[in-house]
Amino acid sequence: MSGSWESSIRQEGRVLAERHLFRSLTPTADAALTHVIRGGRRLLNFSSNNYLGLSAHPELQAALERAGAHGVGGVASRLIIGHSHELDELEREIARFKGTEAALLFSNGYMANLGLLTALLKPADAVFSDQYNHASIVDGIRLSGAKSYRYRHLNLDHLETLLKRAEAKGIKRKLIVTDSVFSMDGDVAPLRELVWLKKKYDAALVLDEAHAAGVFGPHGEGMAHHLGVADEIDLHMGTFSKAFGVYGAYVAGRKTWIQYLVNRCRPLIYTTALPPVIVAAIRASLRLVQSGHTLRQALHERSAWFRQQLMEAGLSINGSTTQIVPWVVGGSERALKLSQALAEQGVLAVAIRPPTVPEGASRLRFSLMATHTQADLIRAVEAVRKACRGKEAGG
Ligand SMILES: Cc1ncc(COP(=O)(O)O)c(C=O)c1O
Repeated sequence: MSGSWESSIRQEGRVLAERHLFRSLTPTADAALTHVIRGGRRLLNFSSNNYLGLSAHPELQAALERAGAHGVGGVASRLIIGHSHELDELEREIARFKGTEAALLFSNGYMANLGLLTALLKPADAVFSDQYNHASIVDGIRLSGAKSYRYRHLNLDHLETLLKRAEAKGIKRKLIVTDSVFSMDGDVAPLRELVWLKKKYDAALVLDEAHAAGVFGPHGEGMAHHLGVADEIDLHMGTFSKAFGVYGAYVAGRKTWIQYLVNRCRPLIYTTALPPVIVAAIRASLRLVQSGHTLRQALHERSAWFRQQLMEAGLSINGSTTQIVPWVVGGSERALKLSQALAEQGVLAVAIRPPTVPEGASRLRFSLMATHTQADLIRAVEAVRKACRGKEAGG
């Protein structure tokens, strides 16, 4: 064992712990359901991205069992023999769903973002990324070596200033990338205005619909469809691990771009295809999502009610207008204590701390599910109010 490694790793752990930023893994059972078992307790679940409650749907389970009959593994990469007829058909279904010429299935959203950005961006290009974009976008940009411009969250003036700056430098190829629904804030990117800017500066626009796909749009297509700008997006990315309740991700767009990714995208090329059981479950989920109007309606109604309750309690929810409702509390220690106080009342909302969110903006992130009942929500709001009172009394 190397002593120098051991002592520096220990030291870094100590520093994290002192700042209340040390993280550890907590086994959790029934995470797809509205009640989980965690730390020996049964808790009402507000920390799952299974927004429509589809993860435990019997049709997904049945699809999975049927597909497993021909082998469980993906067995080879896509360009060798991992591209099955079912996977090919799924990609056509995704393209139809998104209204694009073509689509590609990825192992997960992290790899999709990393892959598409590193494949498209060259060091001579400029990329413009919202400050709160997901880590997979940040990492893809870093790895690409392109000139990176990070604009202030949702700030179109700042974005335009940076676009002008890049233009003044003579940079030809520009790409704007943004989450549509922000994962830790639940607010929404101004897509119509971004489309306007993209056109004005002849940039490409890439959209991460991880938290909007399944939830927004007439058939769950995502926020771009909800806002009527889908045709203006160059690449749509989304994941099947959240509202779809499965795993895997997609990138959809024009055929030339998708074919380019097949040739250039290393996280697509150099990994084993998703297992057929997952492909089958995604196909079943895609059907359920498209006919899931009632679930979407229930989710939106519950989310609106819950946001209103937190605001009436005088809490900061950072501009959320979706099913992701952050209660921003400030320091990490405070977030951990409040999360613990909620758990003691049977409610699970995991504390989110830096570096996932900015310093001083730690929060409890509530994610709602269509399967939460009104009684579940009332219970959560009461727990929040009580935790606030406890804080006032006990500090
Ligand atoms: C905005 C956003 N993009 C991408 C991802 C990655 O997706 P996946 O979990 O499928 O890797 C996530 C969540 O993890 C996310 O929140």
